[in-house]
Amino acid sequence: MVDSESCPPQITLAFPIGEKDFFMAGESASKVKSTLQQLGLRQDIIKRVAIIIYEAAMNVVIHASYGQLEVHVDPEAISVQTEDVGAGIPDIDLAMQEGYSTASDEIREMGFGAGMGLPNIKQCSDELSVESKVSKGTKLKAKVYFTSKAYA
Ligand SMILES: Nc1ncnc2c1ncn2[C@@H]1O[C@H](COP(=O)(O)OP(=O)(O)OP(=O)(O)O)[C@@H](O)[C@H]1O
Ligand SMILES: [Mg+2]
Repeated sequence: MVDSESCPPQITLAFPIGEKDFFMAGESASKVKSTLQQLGLRQDIIKRVAIIIYEAAMNVVIHASYGQLEVHVDPEAISVQTEDVGAGIPDIDLAMQEGYSTASDEIREMGFGAGMGLPNIKQCSDELSVESKVSKGTKLKAKVYFTSKAYA
């Protein structure tokens, strides 16, 4: 018998990210969380993946037009990818800095725009790549390995 923790099945979950869909980030994070829990995966890894999904999808909703979220589970890692059509990020190093945000006053009034989403994603990921083309869109890929050490 195969132990599900040491060798989880390969699965892909995909979610469209609609324009101004402020609920999809939380909803997709919860759906993925329960799927990963059913697979018996480590709780700290599930938590990190849920944070990555929420922050990456929220960025598409807030800063881009629309896109797609994909989550892949393979024997080594969980990969989270968002791809969007939108304004793009002119300076990715700047965008990665804590506290940097271009969010509008309206978005800030909704409680977003602290400039902590990308730094949070980086902290939760073992590997992160962000590629962007101004006026076209952004692609974010994050990976969390099952061999990743737990941290508080
Ligand atoms: N998908 C994206 N498309 C265009 N710009 C983006 C995208 N994701 C991030 N950015 C840019 O990078 C900046 C920093 O993103 P980050 O997630 O760290 O902060 P935030 O979304 O502004 O605030 P918070 O995540 O704390 O609510 C954003 O303000 C925006 O300028
Ligand atoms: Mg953000």
